[in-house]
Amino acid sequence: MALDRKSAPNDLNAFWMPFTANRQFKKAPRMFVAAKDMHYTTADGRQVLDGTAGLWCCNAGHCRPKITEAIQKQAAELDYAPAFQMGHPIAFELANRIIDIAPAGMEHVFYTNSGSESVETALKIAIAYHRARGEGARTRLIGRERGYHGVNFGGISVGGIVTNRKVFGPLLAGVDHLPHTHQPALNAFTKGQPEHGANLADELERIVALHGAETIAAVIVEPMSGSTGVLLPPKGYLEKLRAITKKHGILLIFDEVITGFGRLGSAFAAQHYGVVPDMMTTAKGLTNGVIPMGAVITSAEVHDAFMAGPEHLIELFHGYTYSGNPIASAAGIATLETYKEEGLFERAAELAPYWQDALHSLRGLPHVIDIRNEGLIGAVELEPIAGEPTKRAFTAFLNAYEKGILIRTTGDIIAMSPPLIISKAEIDELIGKLAEVLKALA
Ligand SMILES: Cc1ncc(COP(=O)(O)O)c(C=O)c1O
Repeated sequence: MALDRKSAPNDLNAFWMPFTANRQFKKAPRMFVAAKDMHYTTADGRQVLDGTAGLWCCNAGHCRPKITEAIQKQAAELDYAPAFQMGHPIAFELANRIIDIAPAGMEHVFYTNSGSESVETALKIAIAYHRARGEGARTRLIGRERGYHGVNFGGISVGGIVTNRKVFGPLLAGVDHLPHTHQPALNAFTKGQPEHGANLADELERIVALHGAETIAAVIVEPMSGSTGVLLPPKGYLEKLRAITKKHGILLIFDEVITGFGRLGSAFAAQHYGVVPDMMTTAKGLTNGVIPMGAVITSAEVHDAFMAGPEHLIELFHGYTYSGNPIASAAGIATLETYKEEGLFERAAELAPYWQDALHSLRGLPHVIDIRNEGLIGAVELEPIAGEPTKRAFTAFLNAYEKGILIRTTGDIIAMSPPLIISKAEIDELIGKLAEVLKALA
């Protein structure tokens, strides 16, 4: 039967695009129609070098055969199995493989479908964990200014990006925030972790003194904040957070949605920085961005607190229809195998110094007020146009796209996080073209 369409099938009006300037986009659409390895193909047939791994997620590059084949095979074999009270082997196999590469002590995996859901899951587990242990008053959640933890109510409540919070009402009660760690006056143009700012973790002691440790369930931070514009943890900062949370019986959650799966040159930022939290939230690189899937990874202690009471009872009243979906699980296994076979985490670590040098070669170009980097991630912060914040970086983004490179902007910060398969020549191309864009900016 013919569909009753009121408009042409390619009318752009119906799709309300996420985190997009819809009216601007629809006047001059930027459409990708294909992708392979390091490149996208646009609707008008141009090749665009992917400087952002999609949205920080396609760590192995695009349309990798092993992942594609795994998805195709799984879709034909077991498309779906109920996620509650039933299982299928591949979800268990993937969980084991995640644990294999996670820091020692992280032993259990709870599946979600996105970073936002991983965050909600971890926050709920944190509160329920304390209650299960008889500390039901521990319900407060501590986030950080400028933190990004997805877009659901828990995530925006502990998050600290004002535009993501201010129009959505009062949010979760009982939330407080650490100060952010961005101190350009002290740390601008630092390569890797900044020297100054470990003391900002001591603010947690102030928050504990204000609320009482016995009311606080968890602290959640991105070990390295990506979406707010690549803010690195000052030297010693994460260690202090770990020590203070431990001292007060507060769980520490690392949101590793961006940093997980090799971005910094180790499987997780926890290993890169040598600080192990109680829970880690992940998504994105878990399936190379190809199929929606996330996972919360917990310590044995967190998990085991729930494994009490009669065995026929559900221990945690939480989960999603698609938790551990078979096709997503198959994509996850193939993704982790691709990372391993191609040594991509090690490759990121090896390329990091070259990436750092290339990125910092942009210092001195017009409007550049800071450059930051770690692993295969980097940011170039621009001086905003007076009275028109975000416009300068957005113009750079549009011009970069015309030049054949994909970058990302947040505020007036340009962020880049290429697939870990990027070559040195492609780093030169990405940074070279960005330099041309920056030189031409008003
Ligand atoms: C640290 C962090 N947490 C959570 C999320 C949300 O993930 P999703 O968009 O898959 O919900 C993101 C997305 O960029 C992220 O960077």
